[in-house]
Amino acid sequence: MNPKPLRKLLPDAAGLAEAAAILRQGGLVSFPTETVYGLGADARNDSAVAAIYAAKGRPSFNPLIVHVPDDETAERYCLFNDEARRLAGAFWPGALTLVLPLKPGAAVSKLVTAGLDTLAVRVPDHGVARALLEAFDGPVAAPSANHSGRISPTTAAHVVAGLGDAIDAVVDGGDCPVGLESTIVSCVDAPALLRAGGIPAETIERCLSAPLATLTDPTLPTAPGQLASHYAPQGKVRLNAPYAKEGEVLLGFGPVDAALNLSPSGDLTEAAARLFACLHELDRMQANAIAVSPIPDHGLGAAINDRLRRAAAPRP
Ligand code: TXA
Ligand code: MG
Repeated sequence: MNPKPLRKLLPDAAGLAEAAAILRQGGLVSFPTETVYGLGADARNDSAVAAIYAAKGRPSFNPLIVHVPDDETAERYCLFNDEARRLAGAFWPGALTLVLPLKPGAAVSKLVTAGLDTLAVRVPDHGVARALLEAFDGPVAAPSANHSGRISPTTAAHVVAGLGDAIDAVVDGGDCPVGLESTIVSCVDAPALLRAGGIPAETIERCLSAPLATLTDPTLPTAPGQLASHYAPQGKVRLNAPYAKEGEVLLGFGPVDAALNLSPSGDLTEAAARLFACLHELDRMQANAIAVSPIPDHGLGAAINDRLRRAAAPRP
């Protein structure tokens, strides 16, 4: 698909300048964020954005998140209300994506929003992502840098293994510290949780002093995570398993005897950071049957369990 060899770039001035130049030419660059590696393209360039969909094999009705360096830039593309400003003030830069009304005339490819009149936007909290946004000086559309439905990447090696022949470059910034995608909150109407993620919903509710609505209407084609099977390793996944049955590999949590453990001490932050790397590792081990220890459903545990339920869902 891609005639050029993959460029593996260092996150230094030369590497970032080259990454920005590739973006300017309409190319695809994977880069680290605090959550997961993104697959970036110039959000104003239709053919560059189309190339993201092609590389990921993503259903084109699933819109993309636009990454910007700061709140002021975000306000060029979206209409903020008081709640959106409050959330941006509290959590940006960071693992929060806001879905907001698209500003009329905003210079964003219609492919980014999949034709919707809302836009998902976030300010990442990662030195390399921020330096790249500064060097590029424009909005970067970036989904997670994995094939649609597969496990999100938290290292440059994951990106290369999954998409290496479909993209132009990857900037290697080491492991992603949060390890789970951003929490998505819509502020189009009353603030609503669209996807659990790196910032616990409880933390966002405390900031708003109000509960978040949840959009569960399955007829909404634009609700994220509409594809029940997602984040899937090759093997079959069984959840809430106190121990592995014959032939299963146990992905543990807490003090259990497991082949791989998300956090032996039962720490949810550590488990979030390690989740996708462990799922990738299970693929590498060619585990056909995977049992997963129970994980508490509060704080980051809610996002971890969301991803694990999708990993366990029947495959299309
Ligand atoms: O942490 C993250 O958010 C990572 C890093 C790279 O920033 N990105 C990421 O993107 O997870 P992606 O494309 O894998 O997930 C974006 C989600 C999708 O489920 C999509 O449906 C939703 O955001 N989304 C995007 N625009 C939307 C919109 N206008 N309304 C509702 N949902 C939207
Ligand atoms: Mg994704």
